Amino acid sequence: MLNDPRLQTPIVILTGAGISAESGLGTFRDLGGLWTKVRLEDVATPEAFAADRAFVQSFYNARRANVQTAQPHEGHRALAALEHHPRFAGQITLVTQNVDDLHERAGSIAPLHMHGELLKSRCELCHAVAEALGDLDDQSLCLACQSSGRLRPHVVWFGEMPFYMDRINRALARARTFISIGTSGAVYPAAGFVASAARYGARTIELNLEPSDGAAMFDDVVLGRASQILPAFVAQVTGAC
Ligand code: OAD
Repeated sequence: MLNDPRLQTPIVILTGAGISAESGLGTFRDLGGLWTKVRLEDVATPEAFAADRAFVQSFYNARRANVQTAQPHEGHRALAALEHHPRFAGQITLVTQNVDDLHERAGSIAPLHMHGELLKSRCELCHAVAEALGDLDDQSLCLACQSSGRLRPHVVWFGEMPFYMDRINRALARARTFISIGTSGAVYPAAGFVASAARYGARTIELNLEPSDGAAMFDDVVLGRASQILPAFVAQVTGAC
């Protein structure tokens, strides 16, 4: 585990698909990952949506249904417990690249979904964001502007700007500790957070199944399954308070 378990605050935590893997939601780049089965150019770009809206909607409809049957695991719950611990309460900014709601269901406080949220829709005309638990299609009605067939998944596609970047960059500039969990470090801007945090003087910690693309940039690397290493990590750092 960590040589020095005393974490300085404030803390920025970044999570990726690896934290949801044991909840049954596939990762993207591992063996058998989503992008080994589907071309991201066919489903995760504005151009793909313009070319075949029905196909892209059906891809996200299936993923939306999956998310709602998945359950958070001990790793998600440990992270939420860290956020609620008296030593760290109000001192953690949780940023996730995940579009599922497993952090919220485990009790995390308002994670910043930088790649959007699958259980929400966004109207292309009036930009209203609304809860979307069922399928979206060419008949879906926007309750804000009453247009039909103009709702899209509230997710960020390649070529679009991730959400909350100003808040995230401010939090990275202040952070004394940066923790990356379950992400391959393959997609920017999230892949650049470790370098930014380190430049501002934060200690950097990676928790992942295997070393990520940027593993050499981290001060500490802890390897293992999120459901096991996160509870152990949280027990270690809260035990040192
Ligand atoms: P990736 O699929 O690229 O990486 C998942 C990481 O999780 C890998 O480094 C795995 O080793 C690790 N991992 C797998 N199982 C794990 C487990 N049980 N416990 C801990 N770690 C585990 O997923 P992301 O890095 O999240 O963006 O991908 C980033 C972005 O690429 C996604 O948000 C998505 C995708 O394209 C968009 O769609 C915009």
